[in-house]
Amino acid sequence: PLNVILDGDPGHDDAVNLLLALASPELRVLGLTTVFGNVGVERTTHNTLVVRELARADVPVYRGADRPLVAGPISAELVHGESGLDGPHLPTPSRNVEAEHAAHFIIHAVREQPGDVTLVPTGPLTNVALALRLAPDIAPLIRRIVWMGGSTDTGNWTPAAEFNALADPHAAHIVFTSGVPLTMIGLNASHQAIAHPARVAAFRALATPVGEFVAVLLEFFAEHHRVRYGWDGGALHDPLTVAWLLRPELFRTRPMHVEIDLTGGPSRGRTVADVWGVTGKAPNAEVMTEVDADGFFGLLVERVGRYGGP
Ligand code: BDR
Ligand code: CA
Repeated sequence: PLNVILDGDPGHDDAVNLLLALASPELRVLGLTTVFGNVGVERTTHNTLVVRELARADVPVYRGADRPLVAGPISAELVHGESGLDGPHLPTPSRNVEAEHAAHFIIHAVREQPGDVTLVPTGPLTNVALALRLAPDIAPLIRRIVWMGGSTDTGNWTPAAEFNALADPHAAHIVFTSGVPLTMIGLNASHQAIAHPARVAAFRALATPVGEFVAVLLEFFAEHHRVRYGWDGGALHDPLTVAWLLRPELFRTRPMHVEIDLTGGPSRGRTVADVWGVTGKAPNAEVMTEVDADGFFGLLVERVGRYGGP
């Protein structure tokens, strides 16, 4: 199996991504690391423990960064509610978080299995950037970073910037200039993966606790997308990362040069993607461009279905 570390800020779509990964035998999940983002890191960590509990997974959880490297505070209660995971009933975790910081865990895991650890961040890139700065030797040892964030076109938190990129643009800059093989799955891709009511119904039809949990998560998540975009469901951003690792044939990617806008102007946090190769700069990322949404949701339902009965 492929060794992965899932780094995120659950978050409805982060939670679904964790469930997808933890149900997939093709992956060996070495650890779950948490970061501030949708809500504060205490809550994203608690939510990660909740999802681990629900998945009955035996995998360690490590708390990470509570703030961006340089930028000011940011959060997305508007989308995910006060808890970061509003909607379903959340079980009480029976196990706690490990003592080690997420960035140190990443460093140790990569050094122990050089060339054989894939990082899957679905929030601000702060933990990954910290690890790269604390231990520059790990850059050539990381197999790949598969990040949900950015966009080749419009943003969602400002007209130009996507939330995870804007949340810590300096961390994103460190990652995009690190030389580590990188896959960027941005809004231009995730806006093709809408969890409309028929897709939510497929999770409910599993008639299992985890299937129902996902259905209720997606119903809450849909609300913001209805109000803001007029869409009939939420864009299921984060699970595209693990889905791409599992079934790359469901997607198209293209190599591009991507630069993070670190200026203080209206484009701050934009992932400026050289779609047409006009800069002549060598590509630093495989950028997802197309999603087979039915294939993606089919995979998700099948994997969530593996959690079985109560
Ligand atoms: C990203 O922002 C968060 O709200 C979601 O969890 C996702 O990672 C989408 O812009
Ligand atoms: Ca996220």
